[in-house]
Amino acid sequence: PGAEQERWEAEQQKKTRRGGGNAEVLAAAAAEEAAKYEMLFDDSIEYVKNEVMAGELATEDFEAGSAREKAQKAKLAAIEDERARMAADRASLPIYAHREGLLAAIEEHQILILVAETGAGKTTQVPQYLHEAGYSKLGKIGCTQPRRVAAMSVSARVAHEMGVKLGNEVGYSIRFEDCTSDKTLIKYMTDGMLLREFLGEPDLAGYSVMMIDEAHERTLSTDVLFGLVKDIARFRPDLKLLISSATMDAVKFSDYFDNAPIYQIPGRRYPVDIMFSKAPEADYVDACISTVLKIHISEPPGDVLVFLTGQEEIEAAEELLKSRTRGLGTRIAELIIAPIYANLPSDMQAKIFETTPEGARKVVLATNIAETSLTIDGIRYVVDPGFAKQNEYNPRTGMESLLVAPISKASAMQRAGRAGRTAPGKCFRVYTAYAYEHEMDDNTTPEIQRTNLANVVLLLKSLGIHDLVNFDFMDPPPAEALLRALEQLYALGGLNDRGELTKLGRRMAEFPLDPMLSKALLASETYKVSEEVASICAMVSIGSAVFYRPKDKAVHAENAHRAFSRGNVGDHIQLLHVYQGWAESDFSSQWCFENYVQLRSMKRARDIREQLTNLMERVEIELASDSENYDAIRKSIAAGYFYHCARLQKDGGYRTVKNPTAVSIHPGSSISKEVLPRWVIYHELVLTSKEFMRTVSEIKPEWLVEIAPHYYSAKDIRDDGKKMPKGKGRSAAA
Ligand code: CDP
Ligand code: MG
Repeated sequence: PGAEQERWEAEQQKKTRRGGGNAEVLAAAAAEEAAKYEMLFDDSIEYVKNEVMAGELATEDFEAGSAREKAQKAKLAAIEDERARMAADRASLPIYAHREGLLAAIEEHQILILVAETGAGKTTQVPQYLHEAGYSKLGKIGCTQPRRVAAMSVSARVAHEMGVKLGNEVGYSIRFEDCTSDKTLIKYMTDGMLLREFLGEPDLAGYSVMMIDEAHERTLSTDVLFGLVKDIARFRPDLKLLISSATMDAVKFSDYFDNAPIYQIPGRRYPVDIMFSKAPEADYVDACISTVLKIHISEPPGDVLVFLTGQEEIEAAEELLKSRTRGLGTRIAELIIAPIYANLPSDMQAKIFETTPEGARKVVLATNIAETSLTIDGIRYVVDPGFAKQNEYNPRTGMESLLVAPISKASAMQRAGRAGRTAPGKCFRVYTAYAYEHEMDDNTTPEIQRTNLANVVLLLKSLGIHDLVNFDFMDPPPAEALLRALEQLYALGGLNDRGELTKLGRRMAEFPLDPMLSKALLASETYKVSEEVASICAMVSIGSAVFYRPKDKAVHAENAHRAFSRGNVGDHIQLLHVYQGWAESDFSSQWCFENYVQLRSMKRARDIREQLTNLMERVEIELASDSENYDAIRKSIAAGYFYHCARLQKDGGYRTVKNPTAVSIHPGSSISKEVLPRWVIYHELVLTSKEFMRTVSEIKPEWLVEIAPHYYSAKDIRDDGKKMPKGKGRSAAA
């Protein structure tokens, strides 16, 4: 899979390398490369060491360090025997010495808060201990993770340690992918998947233990799970609950869970020198790469971990790193680049855990996932630009967007700590000590307080929980956000005017999709285009990685992509044609290659689509097709996304219709910049230099009245510059 694409990439790289035997050209190239090598010593980024900070991280606990040494000797002796090696590995983890104590505490208490530093072995070991102690005879052992990559990678590791095939005794379940079977005893899953399991099994009857892991991350789903598991613990005294966390907020967890005892495993950390950049950096990705190269050239052996914000940034950084070291050959030691982000295919995820060969250095380019969810052995250097991608929601305007935001001090400390797990390390912060002190919050705000709650409200309503205001949240969401969610679900038709779930709402909750997307899917039945809308839903669910634009073939790629557009109707229809084209080619990889489309993303879209159509059958939506009826298809999408509606202004910009805010069409959109449509709906907002609408389609304003009569009236869509939803008196131009 993807072989052609890889071969092709390799081909491109070869072509860009100079050659041809012309001595002059070669000499020039060599000079250029030499200059590049000098550039690596570029001193533009200076770091100053911060003694106080470094001291804070250092701990005295070196006794455990010698225990590890011994364990490592044992490891060497058993090198031929993989199983023995695994056992020694397991025994070398800090948590191992606490195995019996921990099991005794779990036996004694129904709810236990487990606190141990990242890498101690909580996620991989505790479920195994429970299994070995016999809990799996009473029911499954569940363990939730906020991130899908962590669920996949950790379960693979545990299956390996237990010598079983992944999906049998040990499995994982993430959205659109269930890798478990009847045999499964230890099940890793995303917190969101466990929430969905409540719909089918409200008392978690199949489980003997549930471990809510990475509790400190406080994702929306984890916070809702807290309330649900706390509740079922009361009428299921046989269910054991473990709340495990990496950081010190344990008292808060204990308070919330009726003073559950805290089991703390002492840390084992080495000192980490923390360096701050002397002056702010304009381009932090570039600064990170320069820092990596400096480390590579001037620091002793040890792998490097760089925190970036997402797939696109990681790919750009990888490209930059490659281009700046290209042609240096043996003048620098080998640099192994290992990216890790949510959409990275699982076969490539394993690369980050591979032991670095002698003499080489590994650079892991990771998202936040490496902050606490995944531990990579051998990291001695951390490069931290201080940013992460975050969802932000304004409950007043109902606007939600994805943006790159500064991390908290707590996160920065976690990141630095990753450098000192097995030996003393260094952390290079690509921001100033001043920025750290004055511009970063102490802690990250729990997601529940900064996100759209429509999804959660629909789920809780489906579970029969009506009184959301009095739901036992650890930190309650803003009342305004709850109201906004109820209002949105009402507008979508999922709730009636008394806030009760409607038949439509019940069907919407069946789909593991955002309520707006499930509404679009359900509306497609009315317009008899469910096949097409299912394809579109699958395509928007894979994220932004559909198209492939190699730099040296940009024009070809753009032409190929443009061929999927029809008129100027927009991106949803374009995505539909990509899917249809691929399906007509019998899902050929050659087709993807020729059309500059990412094969892996397409395969994922096919999987998602298949699951969606299965679910559609379950809720008895008739599959119908009318491929050329773009109006019907866009009406279906608009039936879910009428909230995300914007209108062209005289100045050529757009304004959202509800709570007027200036927005623009994303540069990646297929919509022509010459003939901008007057009315559009969009899938999501992305905030970079401005608010960009991503995945945009043209609509006719009169559809809004037809689709959402309780939300738009004829007056709202009159072309007189005063288009406001019902009940709002302010003018759109205000
Ligand atoms: O959950 P916690 O942070 O306490 O630790 P863990 O994830 O259980 O990690 C324990 C050990 O397993 C670490 O040394 C990891 O490097 C290793 N591990 C691994 O090698 N491969 C994985 N996919 C996951 C963990
Ligand atoms: Mg963990």
